[in-house]
Amino acid sequence: MMENSDLEMWSSKEKWWGDNCLGRVDGFWLLPQFIQSIDRVVKHFKPLPSDIILASFPKTGTTWLKSLLYSIINRSSKHRLATKNPHELIPILEVQVYATSNEPLMLTPSSSSINRSRRLFSTHIPYQLLAKTLDSSECRVVYVTRNPKDTLISTWHFVNKWIKAKEGSWPLEVATDKFCRGVIPCGPYYDHVMGYKKLSLEKPNNLFFITYEELMDDPKTHVKKLAEFLGCPFIGEDREEQVEEVVKSCSFEVLRNHEVNKSGESPTWFPLPYNSFFRKGAVGDHKNYLTDETIDRIDTLTREKFHSSGFMYGI
Ligand code: A3P
Repeated sequence: MMENSDLEMWSSKEKWWGDNCLGRVDGFWLLPQFIQSIDRVVKHFKPLPSDIILASFPKTGTTWLKSLLYSIINRSSKHRLATKNPHELIPILEVQVYATSNEPLMLTPSSSSINRSRRLFSTHIPYQLLAKTLDSSECRVVYVTRNPKDTLISTWHFVNKWIKAKEGSWPLEVATDKFCRGVIPCGPYYDHVMGYKKLSLEKPNNLFFITYEELMDDPKTHVKKLAEFLGCPFIGEDREEQVEEVVKSCSFEVLRNHEVNKSGESPTWFPLPYNSFFRKGAVGDHKNYLTDETIDRIDTLTREKFHSSGFMYGI
């Protein structure tokens, strides 16, 4: 992959909002500030067989899955979740762990991300860029995705929060067009999802693929499945209560009401405040924003990109 992170060396660049550009690297649109660190992850990250990596496209449920994975691995985690934003509990490889150096940060046993032998990381890097790294290890990957229309709406709100601190707003028509053409961070969305979807079919013991909607529909069943996949099933007479506690302590309502998640302060590693990771937490919110015409446009793309490959999802 890229040897030089200079914008001019990318195959192309395009504005996505305001004067902000994304760079195209190996078919994906990446935020310039993370291109070098993504390169470091690709070249230097060596996952251990015991590692757990949460992969996702931005705005598809990463924060929720972080809280769930952390709780499943650490079991009674209510107190940690009340005092730490989920992104502080599971660091993002390309944003926090390899931000500044080829030597990974936060990998010491005292790090909050470590539970004795299990290391938990997250990433938005597409599988197509991370294939060698992931294929070289028996580590377990959990991939969460979300229907494209809600992903677009969540992204649009998130970017508008970002912009408001700086300049005007990002019109929904522009956001929709960029989304459909794949020009949003880590996009194209469809290629990102299909990369991990294919891996889940080839290596089901290594990749657990879940959707935001499935989880919302029946969180207890999926939390149990996740725990089994991670090799730490809920056991004991009170296992149902344990599962219920995990689901409840990671629910949108509970999480977003912790002071740490209501905070208007921004983390050191990102320009938006902690509270920007919690907005509405619902399925189908796109219906409140998108016209029938836009819905048709996205559904047509979804049929072409997902359904024609046998993945009957997203409409
Ligand atoms: P909305 O903008 O639709 O509300 P990510 O974590 O990948 O950035 O995704 C953010 C989306 O997940 C936001 O969606 C956010 O509100 C929602 N979210 C955050 N925590 C959640 C939780 N515990 N349960 C359900 N949704 C959650």
